[in-house]
Amino acid sequence: MIDLQLADKTHDEGRQGEALVTDAPLKRNGRKLYIESYGCQMNFADSEIVASILFDQGFETTGDYKEADVVFINTCSIRENAEQRVRNRLSQFGAEKRRNPKLIVGVLGCMAERLKSKFLDEEKLVDVVVGPDAYRELPQLLAEVESGHKAINVLLSREETYADISPVRLNGNGITAFISIMRGCDNMCSFCVVPFTRGRERSRDPHSILAEAQGLFDMGYKEVTLLGQNVDSYKWKGADLVTEQTAAVALTEDKREIEVNFAQLLEKVALISPDLRIRFSTSHPKDITDEVLYTIAKYDNICNYIHLPVQSGSSRILDLMNRTYTREWYMNRIDAIRRIIPGCAISSDIIAGFCSETEEEHQETLSMMDYVGYDFAFTFSYSERPGTLAARKLPDDIPEEVKKRRLAEILVKQQNSSLYRLQQFVGKTMRILVEGTSKKSDLDYCGRNDQNAMVVFPATAGIAPGQYVNVYIDRCTSATLLGVVAVEEPANV
Ligand code: 5AD
Ligand code: SF4
Repeated sequence: MIDLQLADKTHDEGRQGEALVTDAPLKRNGRKLYIESYGCQMNFADSEIVASILFDQGFETTGDYKEADVVFINTCSIRENAEQRVRNRLSQFGAEKRRNPKLIVGVLGCMAERLKSKFLDEEKLVDVVVGPDAYRELPQLLAEVESGHKAINVLLSREETYADISPVRLNGNGITAFISIMRGCDNMCSFCVVPFTRGRERSRDPHSILAEAQGLFDMGYKEVTLLGQNVDSYKWKGADLVTEQTAAVALTEDKREIEVNFAQLLEKVALISPDLRIRFSTSHPKDITDEVLYTIAKYDNICNYIHLPVQSGSSRILDLMNRTYTREWYMNRIDAIRRIIPGCAISSDIIAGFCSETEEEHQETLSMMDYVGYDFAFTFSYSERPGTLAARKLPDDIPEEVKKRRLAEILVKQQNSSLYRLQQFVGKTMRILVEGTSKKSDLDYCGRNDQNAMVVFPATAGIAPGQYVNVYIDRCTSATLLGVVAVEEPANV
């Protein structure tokens, strides 16, 4: 699967575009697809759906756009700089297209949805524009382009979940994979473009989620991350699940109508095997229930790590952001996590300089960070997005240099907090899922602990990627734990 170092949130445009390839064999038609993804994990997961659809058309993937027949760029709109990155990349594809006029260039994902046909006017080299709910139409759209027309489909759907499409795992390590459990978002946070680019929230049929997770486990995968913009509002109504997990892939016997919520889904996936680790992202403070927390606590293989974006520590700003919770509510949820899952890692998304934010309100964000002691945080300076509630109603009135300074203060606090949290693991032994060799040295392995901290340790004979191993942590940097393989059982950290 995708090699994601920060594998724990659904949208992070900090990730650079990545060419995605598979080596899956099958009868091919000689046509080559190059697909590059930007932004959130959901986009990377979608690229695997796109690859699957084109794979059925006989395409193979390539990691070199210069030898491709079709180049797709799966785009992110979350902040302005994410869009700028995509435009820069498109101008490089444009140069290639001038050299090879037969090359088809397609824009997929959130920017396609946001800009629609404007894209075809603004970027002359683009042949096809496809929104996140229209990937099934790709074969027809490509045929239209081949007959000499530009093609576009940006219709959003209330039902599409691609439940029946088996993603082609791209850039896989064969150990960790993402499973998309829902699409869209109904929250309408005032700063956020996602509800406009990804449409209404809908949950995927749990039978297909379980079948996908079971299939991955049978292929040797050891970790799945359940993905959604707001996983806590997962809700599905339909024919009963067979509770016997061994029968999870043959879910046809009992057709009673039931409802499945996120806690129940988590449990079903966890029961596939104690050797399959479960992660999930993103949780929403207004929706995360004690039932979810107790489910995490109940199963050892559901990782003790929650990405719970706070966005701001000020109740007035949270209200303007339309987050529908207060500072006190958020603190209460943190208290519940600490009570029910002691030692659980918590990360956040934080926005600096939202409309009308005062210095005191910024201080409230800093004091919230002190209260929680985040293990990790993704921090952003507010970027006004066209069409959002904030863009329509609230002036973007915090000067750039103030936003920058506030962001820097948030960052420094987070660096100290991350280091402090990592230091708490030093001197302990913990279970690590070996993901592969470390980026810096082939002599070292890397993998994550339950709380999602990256651990690097010398590769030891008899240990291979995909195995769980106990590692004694003897020191840390500000981002990584360092240790050695241990024989003793892990302590409960
Ligand atoms: N400006 C800055 N940050 C944003 N995010 C979403 N929209 C914006 C925006 N307009 C951040 C939020 C969200 C994360 C994925 O991106 O923190 O949780
Ligand atoms: Fe955007 Fe809020 Fe939905 Fe997250 S929950 S995708 S921030 S609207």
